[in-house]
Amino acid sequence: LLACCGGGAALGGWAWSRAKVDTAGEIDFVNRLAIPLLAESRLDEKGRRVFDLRAQEGSRDFGAGGRTRTWGFNGDYLGPTLRAKRGEKVLVNVVNGLDEETSVHWHGMHLPAVMDGGPHQPVRPGATWSPTWTVDQPAASLWYHPHPHGQTAKHVYRGLAGMFIVDDDNASNARLPNRYGVDDVPVIVQDRKFDGGGQFEEGESLGGVGILGDTILVNGTVAPYHDVRSERVRLRLLNGSNARTYTFGMADGREFAMIGTDGGLLPAPVATDRVMLSPGDRAEIVVAMRPGERVTLRSFPEDQGTDFFNRRFTGGGDTLDVLELRAADDLDPSADVPAKLAPFEPLDEADAVETRQFRLAGRSINDQKMDMNRIDAVVTKGTTEIWELTKLDGTPHSFHVHDVQFQVLSVGGQPPAPDLMGWQDTVFLKQGSTVRIIARFADYADPDMPYMFHCHLLTHEDAGMMGQFVVVEPGESAGRPPIGSSHH
Ligand code: C2O
Ligand code: CU
Repeated sequence: LLACCGGGAALGGWAWSRAKVDTAGEIDFVNRLAIPLLAESRLDEKGRRVFDLRAQEGSRDFGAGGRTRTWGFNGDYLGPTLRAKRGEKVLVNVVNGLDEETSVHWHGMHLPAVMDGGPHQPVRPGATWSPTWTVDQPAASLWYHPHPHGQTAKHVYRGLAGMFIVDDDNASNARLPNRYGVDDVPVIVQDRKFDGGGQFEEGESLGGVGILGDTILVNGTVAPYHDVRSERVRLRLLNGSNARTYTFGMADGREFAMIGTDGGLLPAPVATDRVMLSPGDRAEIVVAMRPGERVTLRSFPEDQGTDFFNRRFTGGGDTLDVLELRAADDLDPSADVPAKLAPFEPLDEADAVETRQFRLAGRSINDQKMDMNRIDAVVTKGTTEIWELTKLDGTPHSFHVHDVQFQVLSVGGQPPAPDLMGWQDTVFLKQGSTVRIIARFADYADPDMPYMFHCHLLTHEDAGMMGQFVVVEPGESAGRPPIGSSHH
């Protein structure tokens, strides 16, 4: 396996190729896809699986006309894949090797708010933060990234992000392609824009959504290909971009099996030829391959009825080539995708004790900007709530809720599309369509420590399109967030 981090030299330099295509097939996939290393771990005396992550500066030759200054975890760009099994207790030593405050948030993870790594868990330069929790959720492709107050876009854009794979004992999961980096491949998709000197452009942007880059990186690789040696390959797609929404499909139009969403496996595979992922979203797909062929994973112009502004401001009107899959002449046999993937219990609207409205517009939610001192919602532990999400302005938003995985009840009054049927932690908001979601807020009450909900277009989040909720014991009221507590 090739390391994702600091591996530029080992790749013999990067050939340069922009991903944006006007007509099909223009891009040359000339670089072998980097596979993020699996993070090493050890068991401590308490039986906890211990990982080490260090945020640090670095540089990498992307072939953009000079070494690009980057940030990464344990390397120059992105970070290793953390992996733990349901039921395991984990501890991560997060060291901040940067010159400024950062944090590390476990996106999609169900865990106590004080371990969540949001803006209330800043890590000062030189400091170590060591959150610990028990992994207790179904197998899923989660991820981690910084979440410092007002600075998330910059920290993620420079390269701080990685995948966190949760495993479980579900037998179907075991029968899916599961050789990491071989037929079970993390695909972290990010768009970047380089300036004339080869540096990442970070300036203000079209429509205020953040930079829409014209170069696609997958696991930090420009113009990547992956050699496939088996009849089926599982792609764990993560939209790790700051602003861009992708509508993924295969360039030749073939169908694939969608097997998972943000929070885990679907009840059954869905045969489809498109999957749309807004920033922060994940999907797992299984693609069948024939010997010797090459097929391109592409992002197509968004064709799901999104309005002009969304297309323009999310980049949803662009065709972008992402990754070429190159099948060997002899392919190892792969098992069929199981017809049943994971037990799935729809949450019942009748169980909801609260319905809340969230209106997104003007970089605010319900006309308020993020305030670290204000609690916007108090949720009682063990209850189920319905949240109604509506976007009222002309720019796209992607709504993310910490702590829970939710289910989508309806989009614009209609049942959700198949790719929104499973567990979600992030959902794209279309113009004029209220998205109703339902979640159960189990465990982990803490009246003083909030979780976040926000737009996952990171420029919007940083500008204040975020709010805070606490989970309290029945009958308890909200406390006060401990402002200014930083880890030294
Ligand atoms: Cu992926 Cu609040 O973040
Ligand atoms: Cu937004």
